[in-house]
Amino acid sequence: MQLETRRLLIREFVPEDIARVHEYASDPLVVQHMIWGPNTLEDTRSYVELTRDMQLEQPRQGFEFAVVLKADHVLVGGCGLHLSNPGQGEIGYCYNRSYWGQGLASEAAAALLEFGFNELNLHRVYATCRPENTGSAKVMQKLGMVYEGHLRGHMRHKGKWLDSYQYSILEEEYRAQR
Ligand SMILES: CC(C)(COP(=O)(O)OP(=O)(O)OC[C@H]1O[C@@H](n2cnc3c(N)ncnc32)[C@H](O)[C@@H]1OP(=O)(O)O)[C@@H](O)C(=O)NCCC(=O)NCCS
Repeated sequence: MQLETRRLLIREFVPEDIARVHEYASDPLVVQHMIWGPNTLEDTRSYVELTRDMQLEQPRQGFEFAVVLKADHVLVGGCGLHLSNPGQGEIGYCYNRSYWGQGLASEAAAALLEFGFNELNLHRVYATCRPENTGSAKVMQKLGMVYEGHLRGHMRHKGKWLDSYQYSILEEEYRAQR
């Protein structure tokens, strides 16, 4: 399956994407606020394989998509929507730093919300980011997501307990802002 926006094709990953994914997934600056990475090539191969497994799930619980520029078919990053409790989903995103600051993350995430609420009939979509990840928080705010709170020490990565800010949007809020 795939989603389309003005500038982007948001499509399933294929094994040929590994090199382009690895470019951003192995970049220490890109992954500084993530709870994975920087990836080895083997990590990136496993990730793309995992996304392929998700494509086969019945019913499908996880959607990890490649984000590709329509203009030149370059893969610029990835975004995802993962279903959890009934009617709820968590979104995430990660982009090659050469493509930051052009509104691409917001454009793709808006398409994920539309997919979640209109196709999957979700009731609530949420996302978390590390408190110092201002760019990610800004993307959530631009989507109309509401700050829910500061989760303290709830994730562990590389021997450290990490905090998160959590944002969410409910279906009625999503419909009201359209
Ligand atoms: C966070 C990230 C996804 C933002 O992607 P992007 O395509 O640059 O985001 P957008 O261009 O849609 O920006 C949305 C808003 O955030 C602002 N913004 C983006 N990065 C910012 C930063 N580092 N500091 C402050 N504001 C920032 C933009 O100016 C824009 O606001 P505006 O419309 O008022 O100008 C990107 O920097 C990234 O991939 N980072 C590494 C991975 C990551 O941290 N993912 C999120 C994990 S929770």
